[in-house]
Amino acid sequence: MSDPKTRPIVSLVRRESFSAAHRLWSDALSEAENHRLYGPCARPHGHGHNFDLEVALKGPIDPVTGVIVNLADLRDVIRRRIIDLVDQRHLNYDCALTADINPTVENLVVRFWDTLAEVYGDLLHEIRLRETASNWTVYRGERG
Ligand code: NI
Repeated sequence: MSDPKTRPIVSLVRRESFSAAHRLWSDALSEAENHRLYGPCARPHGHGHNFDLEVALKGPIDPVTGVIVNLADLRDVIRRRIIDLVDQRHLNYDCALTADINPTVENLVVRFWDTLAEVYGDLLHEIRLRETASNWTVYRGERG
């Protein structure tokens, strides 16, 4: 039997989707290096992706409600603080949340983490950002 003085720790995951354009480019690289590194993402006007964003919170189940957090609140926070700002936007030129970064899927997942950590703090466990069916990033707030 599990210890009745402890509470089970569970991850709760919410998935949202958005579509956005970006252009990946580093002024520190040559034109040829940019095209080799970023491929079609380096085209002069960029291109689009259909992104999937998965946000995992991790915490103890509230014994009264049986949940970790209100899932509708989590959905609304993700939409209001991220999806509403990035969906159908050009992430370099037309999005206040991302206009100051090179919007690689790595930089984007960190920006989204920082945004949601302001709300959820230590409950925020992991964010996955899928750019294509084959490529995604996973971030848990680590720095090195
Ligand atoms: Ni791209």
